[in-house]
Amino acid sequence: MLNFEFSNPTRLVFGQDTISRLSTLVPKGARVLITYGGGSIFRNGVHKAVRAALGDAFVEEFGGIEPNPRFETLMKAVQLVREKGIDFLLPVGGGSVLDGTKFIAAAAKYDGADAWEILRTTGGVVKSALPIGAVLTLPATGSEANGSAVISREETTEKLHFWSPLVYPVFSILDPTTTFTLDSRQTGNGVVDAFVHTTEQYVTVHQDSVLQDRFAEGILTTLIEEGPKVLANPSDYAARANVMWSATMALQGGMGSGLPGDWASHGIGHELTAFYGLDHARTLAIVLPGVWRHQLEMKKERLAQYGARVWGLSGEPAWIASRVIELTEAFFESMGVPTRLGEHGIDAKEAGAKVRARFTERNAKQGENGSLSPEDVEKIIVSRA
Ligand code: NZQ
Ligand code: ZN
Repeated sequence: MLNFEFSNPTRLVFGQDTISRLSTLVPKGARVLITYGGGSIFRNGVHKAVRAALGDAFVEEFGGIEPNPRFETLMKAVQLVREKGIDFLLPVGGGSVLDGTKFIAAAAKYDGADAWEILRTTGGVVKSALPIGAVLTLPATGSEANGSAVISREETTEKLHFWSPLVYPVFSILDPTTTFTLDSRQTGNGVVDAFVHTTEQYVTVHQDSVLQDRFAEGILTTLIEEGPKVLANPSDYAARANVMWSATMALQGGMGSGLPGDWASHGIGHELTAFYGLDHARTLAIVLPGVWRHQLEMKKERLAQYGARVWGLSGEPAWIASRVIELTEAFFESMGVPTRLGEHGIDAKEAGAKVRARFTERNAKQGENGSLSPEDVEKIIVSRA
């Protein structure tokens, strides 16, 4: 196991009717900015519950944060924060609203000329940020309990990530009933994203991480069992609750402590979203099986462990390793998430060449030991036609 430090300061408030807890969680006298996306929170009653809980607190609102939140939009919120003297941010929505708000929190306190530096330095220039409390309505990203955010820039078709200990939410409210209104596409996306967060930390080069492995296997098994239930019955509280808690636990830091993260599927997937606008989880369902097949020899031992413990396979490690990739693809498809670029009408050769060129320009290597060159990435993408 590698050396590590682990700290997660986010208070998680989980369960039915927990939005009312905002009345005590939001600091008294705060000047609050509610941020939200395209309006789902008005259709499912979440906005009403939030406003009721805030009572007569000072509240401004900023809506229109897109899926894959855009720098251009978020900078308008930064201006509003400064004009209104906002001192507390309250994102209400999915990972995009939460991520976008983390950027607003950091950019509002950034005094350099160009806030895109926050992304360019992966958060290195963030020295201060406004406090954030979140109300999550889409279990997927883990953004509710981590210090990460991924921001897109329309002008340059970039999608970049930053991390800072200063943008962990102070608290996050996770009420599974808010997720009843997710359609099958977002429900499937959420399960796949949480699944791939887990495998990106678990299916790496072997480390003696006995407890982390068991955490990961618990999350994967839960998603395989509960995922189909939420698709079949969107108002199944128990299944929604189990999926929500799994997604949070998959990326709050504990499970991956002491492990070398792979993150190749995320790195490649972000480029596919930047170029083609694909939903985040849809890129992962395409890329992950390709990464695994390309690195079958290196990852054989871990894939075999995953196949034996999570899918109950037995036999030769080499056979289990390749069989479990097929089972994983079939699981993603069963969640309604396609695993091939062709299903989105995207030319794999063109996509491969574009991403290769970008990674070459950035001198970016992918994978837990940096062994995937831009040329390897191109081959992986082409294999996913
Ligand atoms: O915008 P609204 O109207 O709210 O609708 C959203 C949006 O259209 C809708 N939605 C959310 N909650 C709903 C709902 N519809 C009905 N009922 C509800 N309860 O769902 C759509 C997608 O929302 P979005 O927030 O974009 O999805 P998700 O949570 O999957 O977030 C994706 C973003 O997070 C980033 C991704 O790259 C992507 O930009 N990620 C963030 C990570 C992190 N912070 O750690 C890690 C992830 O790997 C990921 O990269
Ligand atoms: Zn993800």
